[in-house]
Amino acid sequence: MRKKLVAGNWKMNQNSAEISLFASDILSRLQDSTPNADILICPPFVYIEQLKSLFAHSNIQLGAQNVNNNKNGAFTGEISAAMLSDMEIKWCIVGHSERRKYNHESNTELTQKIEQLFSMQINPVFCCGEMLPERNAGNHFEVVKKQIEGVLWNLPEDVMNTITIAYEPVWAIGTGVTASNNQAQEMHAFIRMLVSGKFGDTLAQNIRILYGGSVTADNASELFLMPDIDGGLVGGASLKAESFFQIINSCK
Ligand code: PGA
Repeated sequence: MRKKLVAGNWKMNQNSAEISLFASDILSRLQDSTPNADILICPPFVYIEQLKSLFAHSNIQLGAQNVNNNKNGAFTGEISAAMLSDMEIKWCIVGHSERRKYNHESNTELTQKIEQLFSMQINPVFCCGEMLPERNAGNHFEVVKKQIEGVLWNLPEDVMNTITIAYEPVWAIGTGVTASNNQAQEMHAFIRMLVSGKFGDTLAQNIRILYGGSVTADNASELFLMPDIDGGLVGGASLKAESFFQIINSCK
């Protein structure tokens, strides 16, 4: 039985005052509830330290939004897996569609990032998902298959065991248009079938596949009821404690 994971991707949002308010709000809400999910927040790098102390005695885990694909060296402005590990970070998003678009991340780089994270015992949340014209042309399964094969099929099984996959149709990210429960479920089932074909059924049954793309307090419950949806990667609705808490509470 896979435990659900609700991960907040704050992207380039929040400041330290907002973070203090968020933390006290979410902690007081969580105090009186027993969430049926693992909880993760991925803030901008510079706020990891602040959140680390605010969440020190809570069950909220922290992740990064990106990592460099090299071990160390002359890469101005970059952050290594060893640095994340030094900050006791246990999770990192890899291959978000915004980074693929604006930073032109290649499959080779994404595989290297995952290898760097594995060397530091950090769990990657690997993102995949098609763009609107690809879905409209009926190519969405093929596109997602290529993204997964191009990055994850290069990995040995022990690395694959540490991966969480996030299916995020690009047309649903930040648009307010969510994939329907059935659209999301059929893609998640397809991804699980691909993983099973390559790594076997046990790994495929254990791997968590999150849905991302305009998840809100209103649609989370139904999405999370689908058999192959193991939680969410939440952008906009993770910035406010009230909506993020409601999404966490949607996990049954
Ligand atoms: P959204 O973002 O929830 O604001 O659509 C999700 C994501 O990009 O991870």
